[in-house]
Amino acid sequence: MFEKTFAGIPALALCAVLATAQNAPITLTVHADEAAHPVSPMLYGLMTEEINYSYDGGLYAEMVRNRTFNGSWDGIQSWYLVEDGNAAAKIQPDRTTGPSAALPHSMKLTVEKADPANEAGLLNVGYWGMALKANTAYKGSFYAKTDTAEMGQVRVSLVQNDTGRVVARTTVSGLTSDWKQHSFTLMTAGDIQPSAANHLVLTVGHPGTVWMGLVSLFPPTYHDRTNGNRIDLMEKMAAMHPQFLRFPGGNYLEGDHINERFEWKKTIGPLVDRPTHPSPWNYHSSDGMGLLEFLEWCEDLKMQPLLAVYAGYSLKGDHVEPGAALEPFVQDALDEIEYVTGGADTKWGAERVKDGHPAPFALKYVEIGNEDWFDKSGSYDGRYAQFYKAIKAKYPALQLIATAPVKGTTPDVLDEHFYVRATQNFHDATHYDKTDRNGPKIFVGEWATREGTPTPNMGAALGDAAWMTGLERNSDIVIMASYAPLFVNVNPGGMQWESDLIGYDTLHSYGSPSYWAQVMFGEYLGDQALKSESAGAGDKFFYSITKNVGKKQVYLKLVNASSLAQPVTIDLGGAQVAGTAKLVSLSARDTQATNTINDRERIVPVDSTVQAGSKFSHTLPPYSIQVLQIDEK
Ligand code: AHR
Repeated sequence: MFEKTFAGIPALALCAVLATAQNAPITLTVHADEAAHPVSPMLYGLMTEEINYSYDGGLYAEMVRNRTFNGSWDGIQSWYLVEDGNAAAKIQPDRTTGPSAALPHSMKLTVEKADPANEAGLLNVGYWGMALKANTAYKGSFYAKTDTAEMGQVRVSLVQNDTGRVVARTTVSGLTSDWKQHSFTLMTAGDIQPSAANHLVLTVGHPGTVWMGLVSLFPPTYHDRTNGNRIDLMEKMAAMHPQFLRFPGGNYLEGDHINERFEWKKTIGPLVDRPTHPSPWNYHSSDGMGLLEFLEWCEDLKMQPLLAVYAGYSLKGDHVEPGAALEPFVQDALDEIEYVTGGADTKWGAERVKDGHPAPFALKYVEIGNEDWFDKSGSYDGRYAQFYKAIKAKYPALQLIATAPVKGTTPDVLDEHFYVRATQNFHDATHYDKTDRNGPKIFVGEWATREGTPTPNMGAALGDAAWMTGLERNSDIVIMASYAPLFVNVNPGGMQWESDLIGYDTLHSYGSPSYWAQVMFGEYLGDQALKSESAGAGDKFFYSITKNVGKKQVYLKLVNASSLAQPVTIDLGGAQVAGTAKLVSLSARDTQATNTINDRERIVPVDSTVQAGSKFSHTLPPYSIQVLQIDEK
């Protein structure tokens, strides 16, 4: 070993050099009492849409897949026939009858032979299974009718895929020849391990015909909401301290074609009155996550809704010409705003009250369309102007966001999107440094460093963090920003877009390194950006310095994207500060390192304390994102 050399350096000496290898020191001078500008309190929020099974099979906690029998495979996807013992039956979709005008079809179960010991029926495999835990109540319902008064009860069971063991069972009686909703609760056994390898079975023990529609099953949800959300995913979002939710898209707002857009009026009220619709991400949306559910999600996480309204352009290029043809779409947007904000004395406010939410929601931002730079017809100038005029006339306080630069009208806010590699974000950390402060405010409505799949790796997190230092430094003009996409179901076939912030399967979820960078930046946002200078920084070091004036805390967000340690001398210009500072650190050995569904906490922030003072030295490890919280005396 001693004989081995590299470039003439003995191996042991080389090891010593490498162990201490570091970049040249940087000096960071912070003016703790000099604000450059206020930090936008709305800076970090969430952008979501139905993509990667974000709602169905994701946040929206429904366990039954294709619950209305209108997914693909002619309505039977995820449903299978059950024939116990010597029972004989068949199932087929029936387009002639269904539980409502909105859901005019159903699954017809024709039972030729069955008795209580040999039942027949159908089963649902869920979204890559059904996650069950011990001693837990699962609440469900189905719509049904039968052609025979003798049909008797429907047995409802949760069954383990691998063992066939029934882990929860109940019965429902009272089927008649009319469509009716039947509710049930399934309580799981106390001795089961958490698992997604389960399915739902509905059986009868008598010959005859039964039609089934809208079969639903929910686990406990966040804040115990009926028709609510997965608890783990809501908790992950809450940890990001998001200030707003941009919804319902994205491409999902626009649909591939005009008649496949997010038609909000078809997403409110009882589930049985929601017709469901195809989404541009190649699967059918249940519309269980409807307009009111989005708003309640905002309420649960104390976020402002940022409502995107359909503006007459769909993804495959269809557009509506400004003028009379566009007027119904403008009216639809006005109705939507009224549903969100109107009192019980307004037509659409009264609908919201009827849907169970008496209090109006506060709304400040409305976005007109999505990525309308794709509209090569040039109609967006006219479309934006028409929406702008009508909305401002009725709601002058609303801030209206344009999705592309427009001529003729000055938008209040412009939405810009960036999907890039880490290197580009290192260069682009200064992107908004020279932006005209007299133009529209900026909303970075979609952005991400796209490295790593299904969720980004540490290299991407470094790109993200560099970019966010630029957003904070420019948050006088950049008032809001949201990473996209937020979610991905990592099961086979779940992903349509590579690189998504939070991954999950049916049972578990995890945050990517990029997610943790967002958690750190969101938690230590501050309300003032402080003046500062740096000397000696190379092209892989980034920082943002903010202060929470009320708490008398200065936050240094430091990013070392280099493979070497980075010493920094921090000079607070004589400010009186506590002798120790809190350090939150996210780092990895290399840029490829990542978290996965099977290794969910490999890279997570670690809290510690470091010696501090009005001038002190601190060394960042290679590939690290850190927040130093310095308390003023
Ligand atoms: O975030 C994924 C997609 O990227 C969005 O739906 C769309 O707005 C953008 O092109």
